[in-house]
Amino acid sequence: MSRALQVTRGTVENGGGVTVSLRTDVVDESLVDESLVDERLAAADRDPGAADPGAAAGGAAAAAINAGDVLIDVEFSGINYKDGMALAGSPGVMRVSPLIPGIDLVGTVAASASPDWSVGDAVIVNGWGIGETHNGGLAERARVKSEWLIARPDGISAKRAAAIGTAGFTAALAVLALEKHGLEKRGLTNSAGKEVLVTGASGGVGSIAIALLTAAGHRVIASTGRPSQREYLLGLGAVDTIDRAELEAVGRPLQKQRWSAVVDSVGGQTLANALAQTVWGGGVAACGLVGGSDIPTTVMPFILRGVALLGINSVECPLPERQAAWARLERDLDLDLLDSFTTSVDLEGAIGAGAAILRGELHGRTVVDVRA
Ligand SMILES: NC(=O)c1ccc[n+]([C@@H]2O[C@H](COP(=O)([O-])OP(=O)(O)OC[C@H]3O[C@@H](n4cnc5c(N)ncnc54)[C@H](OP(=O)(O)O)[C@@H]3O)[C@@H](O)[C@H]2O)c1
Repeated sequence: MSRALQVTRGTVENGGGVTVSLRTDVVDESLVDESLVDERLAAADRDPGAADPGAAAGGAAAAAINAGDVLIDVEFSGINYKDGMALAGSPGVMRVSPLIPGIDLVGTVAASASPDWSVGDAVIVNGWGIGETHNGGLAERARVKSEWLIARPDGISAKRAAAIGTAGFTAALAVLALEKHGLEKRGLTNSAGKEVLVTGASGGVGSIAIALLTAAGHRVIASTGRPSQREYLLGLGAVDTIDRAELEAVGRPLQKQRWSAVVDSVGGQTLANALAQTVWGGGVAACGLVGGSDIPTTVMPFILRGVALLGINSVECPLPERQAAWARLERDLDLDLLDSFTTSVDLEGAIGAGAAILRGELHGRTVVDVRA
């Protein structure tokens, strides 16, 4: 038996609703036979419709969203903002229906037709379209492409790797991008001791960004909409918090220079104000859009202060950058601290957690123990 959480988006004709169901499939017994699996996976490469484990359930469409040369026994997935959107049937994330959501998965290789991976390898997949255009991690088994895998770092357990997930990986990419832009060179008390701003601070990206920036010696100011999270954010290492409302009001194109750098998960007016408040030559890493996908800014921060807007994309991020980000997480992230802000749910619990993240009610990270 292999279980998966499947989301089916209704059409206008049948009512327009979204159905989230816990689907229980009996996996073809031959899939546990290694030699047969390899044969079937090779056949799948030749004819994706013919050898798909889910073919009985979905035919050619199921084959396409299950195509891949490696079969994974999934141990953990997680709840990112995007997973909340997929579980709500949002067409911007859930690009096919039905779909198994889950943009992260952590597990071990159960069968491989790739020379790069062997049975038993501990692996991670973040992004690459899983949980969007390809069946994702909210399942006990997943078939993915070998080039999407990275080896799970020795020092990070499967559960902790899922707790880091796309959110933590993105936070690491943002910190590395800011450093590449010069944050490190300008010094830890750069630009007359200005601090680094993290917005959407209590969330997954925000929490791990605070931890990584603090570990690198920066003084971090956390912007949050929840005063109740202040102690939590100080516990992560932030030196102070500000009310996110301060960044939500329409402001002038250039404002007092407050931040040496910014990690932004919010977008919209918050991102515009962050740009307007960043020091000469500073970088702003744009990661998310929980507050809006527009940027109501002007060219002023760019042409008068040389501020750089650094786009962060975790989904198609190339392998060397992925490895650098995970190496940074392994080196700098306090794993006991990570545990302190990680909550665990089972597959059924993922449905409620997905709804809660969209309401802005979760803090830190939520792991899905798919076998619980
Ligand atoms: N670029 C990429 O590759 C990439 C990768 C991962 C995530 N993302 C994006 O980054 C964003 C954060 O993802 P996440 O997984 O960290 O989500 P999350 O855990 O929900 O964190 C978002 C945080 O933003 C704040 N927030 C919520 N609603 C808000 C609103 N309407 N206005 C302003 N702030 C709000 C909340 O923090 P406070 O209560 O402390 O204010 C919330 O905890 C999402 O947009 C996600 O899609 C992008």
